Amino acid sequence: RFWERILGTVSVRTPEPSMNLLLDRWLLYQVIASRLFARTGVYQSSGAFGYRDQLQDVLALMPSAPEMVRAHILDAAGRQFEAGDVLHWWHPPGGRGVRTRCSDDLLWLPYCTWEYVAATGDDSILSEGVPFLAGEPLGEQESDRYGHFEPAPGKSSLFEHCRRALERGWTSGRRGLPLIGHSDWNDGMNRVGHQGRGESVWLGWFLGATAQGFAELCRRRGDPEEAERWSRRVEELRAAVEAAGWGGEWYRRAFDDDGNELGSPSSAAACIDSIAQSWAAISRLGDPERALSAMRAVDEHLVRREDRVVRLLWPPFNESGPDPGYIRAYPPGVRENGGQYSHAAAWVGWAWSVIGEGDRAEEIFRLLNPVLLASDPAGVARYRLEPYAIAGDVYAVEPHVGRGGWNWYTGAAAWTWRLGVEGILGLRLADGKLVVDPCVPAHWRGFEATIRTDRGSCEVRVENPQGVQTGVIERLLDGEPAPDDGVPLRELVGSHELVVRLGTIAAPVDS
Ligand code: GLC
Repeated sequence: RFWERILGTVSVRTPEPSMNLLLDRWLLYQVIASRLFARTGVYQSSGAFGYRDQLQDVLALMPSAPEMVRAHILDAAGRQFEAGDVLHWWHPPGGRGVRTRCSDDLLWLPYCTWEYVAATGDDSILSEGVPFLAGEPLGEQESDRYGHFEPAPGKSSLFEHCRRALERGWTSGRRGLPLIGHSDWNDGMNRVGHQGRGESVWLGWFLGATAQGFAELCRRRGDPEEAERWSRRVEELRAAVEAAGWGGEWYRRAFDDDGNELGSPSSAAACIDSIAQSWAAISRLGDPERALSAMRAVDEHLVRREDRVVRLLWPPFNESGPDPGYIRAYPPGVRENGGQYSHAAAWVGWAWSVIGEGDRAEEIFRLLNPVLLASDPAGVARYRLEPYAIAGDVYAVEPHVGRGGWNWYTGAAAWTWRLGVEGILGLRLADGKLVVDPCVPAHWRGFEATIRTDRGSCEVRVENPQGVQTGVIERLLDGEPAPDDGVPLRELVGSHELVVRLGTIAAPVDS
């Protein structure tokens, strides 16, 4: 009954049957079974919660298990120190974990809190009281510390936890970009900024997006001045990222302690890195023309259609050039070092859906789709993994091109589900209401979906007679114009039908 309730909340009928299989059951099964419950896979028998990892995973459960999202956010808040930084990972139930100088972990708390509040409308979570952890900050020469940390006395609201994460995470280097610390999202880049001067372009986008969401939280809490203050900071940050990050055709990835550029044609390796491009669009902070140019560069340099891989960066790091960290220990073309890192590949698709290019977004989904990777004997022999779970990475180097690597235990499961359901099919929640705003391939003539609620269901039928990628011209709920702010799912009793028409309305001819 547990699985039926969760896996049966959203079901879809698209023109691609293998997409339906993944979105209806398998990806969410992977998220919950492997990432949230077991926290293990063949290659990583971890058992730990990664700070940024499961905070991202639960975002895929917003429609089907919002109570699990809520509980995990509050659990993660309890792994934050009074100073605002967090445990990079921790082991339940005892709570032992490692305090690090990683720069992005802590920001995922406010990022996910905003996503949760925006989707569910549940502001009450912001007032929930959670204790901080106590503990001496890391010493100057100390890069990390593993241990058991006791809660500090008293409780603070989740809102205060988020505020502290942002204040602590709001750093600024010589160019006005945030400091990369002992790595940002890409854990293996741990020597880019370990001396404290390296700066990250990707982190600039992510920090900006997080602060923008936090400004919205302030607004919802009735504090427009604080909201304004954060929005102004975001604007300054955005300008700094554009100034220091833009390389001419795409965005740079980072600057190391010595000022060397990563992610530019003049770099020794990794001349283009996908996450600095995709997040220009995902954050909605990048200049739209530049973001489009940057994504075209990803398409040209990182998407390998004939090999069916979407590389994270290219060319891979090798022994020459400045040392970026342990990422270089992976063979060139494997995992983060220039392989397909599926988590980031899903962000590429997500970015295309933000830009409004449904053809590209769905193509990325197809490249990631394990059913299609292993659909004939040649594919099976090449890919070599189960066709019903998404792989964390796919090798991009001979003689193993197309071979799946790290299976099951990957943050790509949640983001690929979100890419499909939210990005492409455009089925999203806003304040607990269903908003349908698809971004589909032009050749799709439509699709259907069923959203089940406690007391009823909503049958969604999307029609695309003109063959567009985006643009809703009509939404009818049970034959009447649907409310602008979405279908109030919680109030639905019995079965209802939402018809959504895509297309363009011809401009009136001037007389
Ligand atoms: C692993 C880590 C994750 C990190 C990613 C990229 O999946 O668990 O936290 O962001 O690798 O390096």
